[in-house]
Amino acid sequence: MKRRLLLILGLVSVNSHAELSGQSIALNCFNCHNRKPAANSAIPSLSDYSQQRLQQAMLDFKYDKTNATLMPRIAKAYSDAEISAVAAYLSQQ
Ligand code: HEC
Repeated sequence: MKRRLLLILGLVSVNSHAELSGQSIALNCFNCHNRKPAANSAIPSLSDYSQQRLQQAMLDFKYDKTNATLMPRIAKAYSDAEISAVAAYLSQQ
């Protein structure tokens, strides 16, 4: 019994470390979303978005509420908690 409890505690802590921080996720976003995009860029800068708008856009991509091509694949890679974390981080940049 004791051993099983330790195993469960171990899994919980491994799991919480698996959550990525908003900052480390945002580094992936900046590969495509230039902080100062060229005027004719199809990919917008994320710097003018509010936290709520970013989070909603990511959830819409993740749950196939848009016709976008690329972002749905990216958004599906993140948990809702990670989406919340990256939206909070990006809205403060
Ligand atoms: C591989 C390139 C790429 C990466 C990486 C990427 N994006 Fe995008 N993003 C796009 C493209 C292209 C679009 C335009 C919609 C589409 O075609 O999917 C877009 C659109 C968006 C939009 C919608 C803009 C609007 O107003 O319609 C948001 C918000 C967004 N991305 C957020 C993010 C966030 C947050 C990340 C990091 C987790 C990220 N993107 C990573 C390429 C990328």
